[in-house]
Amino acid sequence: MGRRNVPSLVGSAFKRWQTWDGSADSLWAQPALAFENPLEHALTRAELARRVAERHGGAYQRVFGAAVSRATPDDVDRVVANVGKALAAYVRTLAVSTAPFDRWVAGDHAAMSAEAVAGLAVFLRTGCIRCHSGAMFSDGDFHAARFPDDPRVGSDRGAIEGQARARRSVFQGRGRYSDAPDEPFPIGAPTDALRGRFVTPTLRGVALTAPYGHAGTVATLDDVVHLYAQGGMPVGHALTQGGDDPFLEPFTVSEAEVRALVAFLNALTPDAPREAPQEARRGRRVARDEAREHLGGARQLAEPRRARARVEGLAHGFRVWLHDGAKS
Ligand code: HEC
Repeated sequence: MGRRNVPSLVGSAFKRWQTWDGSADSLWAQPALAFENPLEHALTRAELARRVAERHGGAYQRVFGAAVSRATPDDVDRVVANVGKALAAYVRTLAVSTAPFDRWVAGDHAAMSAEAVAGLAVFLRTGCIRCHSGAMFSDGDFHAARFPDDPRVGSDRGAIEGQARARRSVFQGRGRYSDAPDEPFPIGAPTDALRGRFVTPTLRGVALTAPYGHAGTVATLDDVVHLYAQGGMPVGHALTQGGDDPFLEPFTVSEAEVRALVAFLNALTPDAPREAPQEARRGRRVARDEAREHLGGARQLAEPRRARARVEGLAHGFRVWLHDGAKS
């Protein structure tokens, strides 16, 4: 969100909640928040729909099978939802690249330094894994890690507000614009337990995304580890709204262990770009074609199979591209 540190888009297709505070329960619901936020695009839904009709009417009709209608507020909301789905389909094509850690796990023992391997042990011992678990190093849930708020922006109530916003949204998973209203994520009641909590971010690519935390107030990975060693900001401190979190405990580490842990975190970031895998290349090609089309090129959808993949992609994205690729 406009007043927070911009989170990475890489891997966001795998996230249960979008935005730091869980204001959106799907990838396609998130863009509407950015369009309407006065600190981001500052557009009304009606204005967005007008621009889509004016600049991308043809492409919209080809993809969604009907022309942009702005007759009623419901029609306008449908356009906003569809734009969100198109953006979500693109974001799903952003590949999560292989990092030294992945090569090490796959058996290439030289892929990580001895220091980084020692850092993995520190990562496990100090309990990072409790929240930063799974393939994306995130449990996808809300926690009070108690990173400091930015005093210039003010206190941040986090998920207590985010979940309330998700509940009010017409773009939620159980809403009428959802393609899968039968399988929405349950949105939490905005109880006090969510105050000052944020979604555990992925640690993939983390070496490239300083500064850290929802407010971007922690400058380096070294600082992050020292903050965790002291158990986050103290509960009740003016710079955090977060309460106790059963998964967060202070610990002692030597400076050598801090360096090792940082080396491990660096090993979760891909090395310099290399030749992308086939799926990623195809994803890029599709995105490029789509971009051309939006820019006014008279590119027609090619074979029907491609057209079908593109439309289904709005609902199933990544999986469809992969599946389609496997058959060809
Ligand atoms: C209680 C759950 C929890 C534990 C335990 C935990 N984290 Fe986190 N981590 C989070 C949450 C939640 C955030 C976001 C905090 C915020 O913005 O206020 C975060 C943020 C981070 C960030 C910043 C990422 C970014 O993109 O800004 C890093 C790096 C990080 N954690 C590493 C670690 C390490 C290393 C450990 C172990 C020493 C650890 N975490 C332990 C939940 C946890």
